[in-house]
Amino acid sequence: MTPDPITVPLPEEFAGPLTMARERLGVFAHRVLWYSEIGSTNDIAGMLAEKGADEGLVALADRQTAGRGRLGRNWVSPPGAGIYVSVVLRPSAAAAKLVTIAAGVAVTDGIESATGLSTHVKWPNDVQVSGRKLAGILAEGAVSHVVLGIGINVQPAAYPLDVAARATSIEAELGRPVDRGLVLAECLAALATRYRELGENRGASIVDAWRMRAAPMLGRRVEWESAGERHMGLAENIDDDGALIVKVGAATLRIRSGEVRWL
Ligand code: BTN
Repeated sequence: MTPDPITVPLPEEFAGPLTMARERLGVFAHRVLWYSEIGSTNDIAGMLAEKGADEGLVALADRQTAGRGRLGRNWVSPPGAGIYVSVVLRPSAAAAKLVTIAAGVAVTDGIESATGLSTHVKWPNDVQVSGRKLAGILAEGAVSHVVLGIGINVQPAAYPLDVAARATSIEAELGRPVDRGLVLAECLAALATRYRELGENRGASIVDAWRMRAAPMLGRRVEWESAGERHMGLAENIDDDGALIVKVGAATLRIRSGEVRWL
């Protein structure tokens, strides 16, 4: 049973493009909750998932006051400047391993199809242009579900200095306004396609698509810490489970999660 949280109608900016894309939205076509302000869309989607929300529920906000990134970081979410969206998924254990990889591919595809901007992915979950971050993905799992949160910078905004130095937005890259609703609709449609592929055991084609979109990053040096020691190696590829394969001298290591610094 799905509870009924208090929401207001979806603004036309999003309702129009989502209606137009309805046939392609698959599992995401049914329920979109809109918040003009919320702590974190991942929190509300997670709470609703725990209470039995159907797979495909979408929580979308104009502004987050406690947006979360990976590794306990903040995700700065100024009003109107980005897309802050979370979706409830109920994947099989095999599909769950590749959900973040599938989302990275879907976000690059969705942005390109809505705006023409070509982006690339950086393991594990960044979407970048010219070395600057344009979007991030945060998958948070429980036994019964995964909440997939996606943040996309659409307009340049007054980010704190440390964020501004590493971030970019679709509009800053293109030098023109873009339709935020269309970007959301195309990203969700692309995610629906990739998620369906995951469900059909076609994870290998998603991993191949990710590798193509990661071409500028593969072969680069990476640094990480493990057991209090710093390590360095060459990022070679990702394996079929989405882990990063790193060459350290003659050895080949597999990094499944955690912080990797790209040098
Ligand atoms: C990262 O790159 O660190 C992941 C960023 C994920 C941000 C999105 S915005 C929508 C959803 N709600 C959150 O609190 N975080 C994710």
